[in-house]
Amino acid sequence: MKLNSLLCFLINISLLPDSKSSIRYCDFTTNDRSKYCYAKEILLAITHSPNQLAVDKSSNTLYFSFDMGQGDFVPAVFNMDNKKLTVLNGVRDAFALASDDSSNIYFGGNNGIYRYEKQSLKQLNIKNLDIWWLYIRNNIYFIKFPNLEAHYYKNMTVKELPELKGKVVHQFVLDKQGNVFFINGSGLYGVRRGRHRDIMLRDNPKFVGMATDNNSDVYVCSEDGIYVVSKMVIKVKKIVNVQGVLGLTFDKLNNIVYTNAYEIVRLVPMTRKRSLFSFV
Ligand SMILES: *[C@@H]1O[C@H](CO)[C@@H](O)[C@H](O)[C@H]1NC(C)=O
Ligand SMILES: *[C@@H]1O[C@H](CO)[C@@H](O)[C@H](O)[C@H]1NC(C)=O
Ligand SMILES: *[C@@H]1O[C@H](CO)[C@@H](O)[C@H](O)[C@H]1NC(C)=O
Repeated sequence: MKLNSLLCFLINISLLPDSKSSIRYCDFTTNDRSKYCYAKEILLAITHSPNQLAVDKSSNTLYFSFDMGQGDFVPAVFNMDNKKLTVLNGVRDAFALASDDSSNIYFGGNNGIYRYEKQSLKQLNIKNLDIWWLYIRNNIYFIKFPNLEAHYYKNMTVKELPELKGKVVHQFVLDKQGNVFFINGSGLYGVRRGRHRDIMLRDNPKFVGMATDNNSDVYVCSEDGIYVVSKMVIKVKKIVNVQGVLGLTFDKLNNIVYTNAYEIVRLVPMTRKRSLFSFV
């Protein structure tokens, strides 16, 4: 009887190396002192358009988009708990994706901005808008294509974001204090809230994606890893050595979810105790 249940247990862990299993391997070391290492959980092996990812934190649902050909980006919805994947119809182009704090998801593309709210889609009434990047924090922030200028939408009007006025911006996020961080072809920059002067934080490596976690800490990624912008003295510190990261977001437990060109991965932080077996 005992032997039977032991066998069962062994079979279970070899078949189900999922987040519920308590025995995990360390796939990546980390410089983050609060974590021992990360286990790599492949959520989906899929070719898609690795631009923006967004998570509805209440349902732990991940949104990303596919290139269906002809440059048409169709949003897909992946429930990270039950692993169910669905394609969402109705958004004509979803190049950019973002979530707000109330579990609404926003899609942006060459038809402007849509809000997905309580399972229904609403197109925001902004004319002639092609969206390159979306970020939600109290307001709807976006970068217009093709001129790559940063704007926000408030009280039914579109305004320029003063901190980024006249700058070429590929992606940007805001920290808790409202300071703005952006990347472009030259590097990663910071602009204090209400100011205009930008400060270069790093021009190497080439950063290709950025996001904020649930504490509004700023993360960036490059071909060689994931970095966090530390606050006390502004410093950009690599926390995970992982190749080919093109975009990232955070799940409801604040775990890093990243994408490369062919898979979407969650990094599960390990404690020394939980990962003990991996070294047997
Ligand atoms: C919003 O816009 C309307 C009309 O443009 C204006 O009358 C109103 O004062 C604005 N409200 C705020 C809070 O700015
Ligand atoms: C990126 O932004 C900086 C700071 O505004 C600017 O000096 C630089 O020319 C920009 N790079 C590109 C490639 O546009
Ligand atoms: C952020 O994530 C942490 C786990 O790292 C969690 O304990 C906390 O409740 C989360 N906060 C919010 C505002 O979701």
